[in-house]
Amino acid sequence: MKRRTFLKGSALGSMVAFFASSNLNASLLKDKDLLNFKEVLASTEDKVIVPDGYKAEILISWGDPLFKKASNYDEKKNIDKKAIENAKLVFGDNNDGMSFFPLMENKAILAINNEYINPEIMFNHQGKDLTLDDVLYEQASLGVSILEIQKEKDQWSVVLDSKYNRRIDANTKMSVSGPAKQQVLQNEKFVYGTLNNCANGKTPWGTYLTCEENINDFFGSLDEKIEFSKEQLRFGFKTQSQYGWEKFDERFDLSKNPQETNKFGWVVEIDPFDPNSIPVKRTALGRFKHENAELIVENDGTVVVYMGDDEANEFIYKFVSKHKYQKGSDTSKILDEGILYVAQFNGKIGDFMGNGKWIELEYGKNNLDEKNGFNSQADVLINARIAGSIVGATPMDRCEWIASHKESGSVEVFATLTNNKNNTNPNPANPRTKNVYGQIIKWKHKSSHKDNEFTWEIFALAGNPDNQTSLNKGSNNITSKNKFNSPDGLSFDRDGRLWIQTDGNYSNKEEFEGMGNNCMLAANPKTGEIKRFLTGPIACEITGIAFSQDYKTMFIGIQHPGEKLKGSTFPYGKTPRSSIVAISKIDGGVIGS
Ligand code: FEO
Ligand code: CA
Ligand code: CA
Repeated sequence: MKRRTFLKGSALGSMVAFFASSNLNASLLKDKDLLNFKEVLASTEDKVIVPDGYKAEILISWGDPLFKKASNYDEKKNIDKKAIENAKLVFGDNNDGMSFFPLMENKAILAINNEYINPEIMFNHQGKDLTLDDVLYEQASLGVSILEIQKEKDQWSVVLDSKYNRRIDANTKMSVSGPAKQQVLQNEKFVYGTLNNCANGKTPWGTYLTCEENINDFFGSLDEKIEFSKEQLRFGFKTQSQYGWEKFDERFDLSKNPQETNKFGWVVEIDPFDPNSIPVKRTALGRFKHENAELIVENDGTVVVYMGDDEANEFIYKFVSKHKYQKGSDTSKILDEGILYVAQFNGKIGDFMGNGKWIELEYGKNNLDEKNGFNSQADVLINARIAGSIVGATPMDRCEWIASHKESGSVEVFATLTNNKNNTNPNPANPRTKNVYGQIIKWKHKSSHKDNEFTWEIFALAGNPDNQTSLNKGSNNITSKNKFNSPDGLSFDRDGRLWIQTDGNYSNKEEFEGMGNNCMLAANPKTGEIKRFLTGPIACEITGIAFSQDYKTMFIGIQHPGEKLKGSTFPYGKTPRSSIVAISKIDGGVIGS
């Protein structure tokens, strides 16, 4: 009964003590080379702002051609058969996670997710009068775009008609592998399409991982009396879908094709070097609302993949491969065989630190058996969320990206917990009810990412130190200058800067006053110092990050500028279009240095 008092009072006190003990206030520890840029102030302007001494250039925007025969973006928004065919030849909408694959000096492939579409921007009818052609146009506008880029005179551009250029969409042929293969495929050989490709991962064997997130938004039921199973309900399927595809494409009608849903919600592996390769859905990594897939190779070749499930009160997962990776060896089974674990974070509310463990999601263990509805490992993987609940995983405040500084061999891992307005039952790692700001947590293993146990602490509790009280002021490394909400994208660069991208409330009012548009910050993971590096245009999310080999160009994504018709005209003063931005230092130095 004293819980709230405890949280408001002593919790904040112990947090101050905790951060003081990790030298957060000790300016002596500031590493000048790590965050050596002039910080950018919060902004509500409709443009990308980077620090003094940097430039930001548009590389490609939704609708820009990948092939010479494609037409440029049609500002008239005329959707007909020709427009549908054209959509398969241009950069997709709502760019999200991306990876950079070097080819040779000054040439590379970018693989970029196209997460979803904004009907209110895409169509003159703003989505209110959808037709079959509109749905086919939408299906061709999401998925993944693969494109070759080249650098000439310090400027990157897209190589039209490159043999690598490729679009993967909601109808592309895909195969399925791993323990749930048969159950997903039923009697078919292939599945079709990838959906809601959120963030990403990259393997050392040169493949791209695209992660399927809110796939339920695309399914509905024309039979309004449909009764959903507990598995469907846990994944968020509803009678009325967000996009209305079920009205035009039977495949997305749950009353006719309930099995179709099991074909989505996976991590999909793509070979960007072979445009004819068939993407593979890797079921061993579990089915949930995937964010990114942070892949680490241990010294002995074991592959560890960290993955978050972005839904309120869902979990964090880790896959540990059975097969070892060795340069040049067969990599086709590495992501098919291994153990999937789910995280449990323990401790005391108000300590902001504690310990935790990884719990196996293996059929026949930890009550994952017939009496709980699991008849095979396929059942466990397809319904990983339900399995996680049974084994006692910790409900999290919507885990977005997970990142580890692989180059240093670190056994530390950071994760963004974006926000959780539905948190009514705080726990040590997710200590706030109605968490509107989000936090960044880190955990550390003793010797290896394979360890079953870890210690954890909160790295940053986002908040507003200027108009909030208690925990909503945020941790000591949140200041009037760097305050932000809803951390989402998260990635280390080679030198160990921790880049943070936000997908939050951009109203700039009340509890969010002074935070401005969504932005990107960089943190020193050792000292906890955080500085704003970039601000985005109106109503966008900043998401997706990749570096050139020399770390002198940083590619970032501006997603859905002007969503919900909020009035952006980024980037060209016309229809707002999601875009990839190439950022470089005018003096040619490493980004952030
Ligand atoms: Fe696609 Fe959770 O962001
Ligand atoms: Ca995200
Ligand atoms: Ca998000």
